[in-house]
Amino acid sequence: PPTRLFQFNVEWRNVTRLCHTKSLLTVNGKYPGPTIIVHEGDNVQVKVNNRIPRNTTIHWHGVRQLQTGWADGPAYITQCPIGAGKSYTYKFTVIDQRGTLLWHSHFSWQRASVYGAFIIYPRMPYPFSPTPVRPDIPVIFGEWWNGEVEAIENDMMLYGGGPNSSDAYTINGLPGPLYPCSNKDTFIQRVEPGKTYLLRIINAALNSEFFFAVANHTLTVVEIDAVYTKPFETSAIMIAPGQTTNVLLTANQIPDSTNMFVMAARPYLTSVFPFDNSITIGFLKYKTSNFKKEKQTPMLLPVPPLPHNLPPMEDTGFATRFLNGLRSLSSAEYPCRVPKKVDRRVITTISLNLQDCAPNQTCKGYRGKRFYASMNNQSFIRPSMSLLETHYKKLGAGLSLNFPGKPPHEFNYTGVDPLSENMNTEFGTKLIEVPYGTRLEIVLQDTNFMNPENHPIHVHGHNFFVVGRGFGNFDSSNDPSYYNLVDPPERNTVAVPMGGWAAIRLNADNPGVWFIHCHLEEHTTWGLAMGFIVENGPKPSQCVLPPPSDLPAC
Ligand code: C2O
Repeated sequence: PPTRLFQFNVEWRNVTRLCHTKSLLTVNGKYPGPTIIVHEGDNVQVKVNNRIPRNTTIHWHGVRQLQTGWADGPAYITQCPIGAGKSYTYKFTVIDQRGTLLWHSHFSWQRASVYGAFIIYPRMPYPFSPTPVRPDIPVIFGEWWNGEVEAIENDMMLYGGGPNSSDAYTINGLPGPLYPCSNKDTFIQRVEPGKTYLLRIINAALNSEFFFAVANHTLTVVEIDAVYTKPFETSAIMIAPGQTTNVLLTANQIPDSTNMFVMAARPYLTSVFPFDNSITIGFLKYKTSNFKKEKQTPMLLPVPPLPHNLPPMEDTGFATRFLNGLRSLSSAEYPCRVPKKVDRRVITTISLNLQDCAPNQTCKGYRGKRFYASMNNQSFIRPSMSLLETHYKKLGAGLSLNFPGKPPHEFNYTGVDPLSENMNTEFGTKLIEVPYGTRLEIVLQDTNFMNPENHPIHVHGHNFFVVGRGFGNFDSSNDPSYYNLVDPPERNTVAVPMGGWAAIRLNADNPGVWFIHCHLEEHTTWGLAMGFIVENGPKPSQCVLPPPSDLPAC
């Protein structure tokens, strides 16, 4: 297989949005960053040159990284960060995966502007029809801050709260005309009438889940998180940070005199305050016969009505129906490898906590209390040395393998005031460890405390199957009998419903240390994370490979 080489220079660039010019962290001067395009089976090498006086890392979100955990990217989990002026080359092979993923910085909140599409073309023809025409259309959601993201992150650590203070949502880095001073920064995609296109939709936003719709057009979901699905027709989609969704769109509507249809992304939340509930829009523009001339004409954008098929902000009903409609293809060519039985079930709560400041931290929250977040009452503290290195070199003292396999006590998170249950988490860097080949089930139970949104839980190094999802308390004596063990969706990030649970199953077939965390960056910072070790198996192909010679040191 060929080796594809890429060069990423992490550098500051002046970028203007909403009439604010700021020095923005970019890759190769681009915002969003460059698109990586490879084919299934390719070897990939990305040399990352850090040209900022800060640390950085890059994560290839959803790439399995079989045996190559050193190239996964999360800072202090699988590598020490790349220091100022230093370089590191990520080397990995894209095995048995095809579709749309993303890459992003996995240090601090750098993902705010350091992200891009990671596209894997299949070796075989698409299993769906019609075959879309090229070019594919990337639709990447992000957020723009007028202020310095570093300062916002620091503030948040100090006060442990505060609003999601991005100033605009963006499509491909462009806020669109509903934001002030932003008319010219609008995503416009030209399409030919009658043709079918593949939209590669990526949610790279730091802290927001979105509904997305294109006026008058039906979308057909054919792939999620780089795994084919049964084609699923829908009027809109819901997409959480870290998730990707490929949809077919046929330009088969009759446009008005503008030749344009609006596309819109609006956050999915159950409470407005104190979050941003603004909307980013772009346009599909149908080509006409005098298309050439049109291109030269300066564009005056109409302020259009929003698509009537865009769900309202609090539409949990829509989100649930949409997610329940996703099924893996489960065909002879693309079988569904969901474990029918499991060796181990871990039940973990997902909580936000309002509590006293952690030891060794300075806080200025309300009466000395601030927000933290936890799994099974454990708030994850970032280690000072890479966990994978600690594990590989058997420097075991740094690893606490005592992440509890079940909640600290019986839980009941419906109808009670859970405040008291959510106080005073323990702080630590705790992991679970499983033998190679373990068929593992993890039940993620949201505790409903001060939580207006789904938690998108992302597992590194593994895809998993979402076998069940429900509201209220998970009932281990009843709910598993309703699991979908035939064609559950296979993903790398699951939206755990507010006040509900999701059950995922995976084959622990990738030796190493992996991060499991909420892909809302704010929650990861507050500690909504855990570590996960898969031991080496008996065969050489089941062991972590030695670290590369240029692996950064802490
Ligand atoms: Cu896309 Cu650990 O993240």
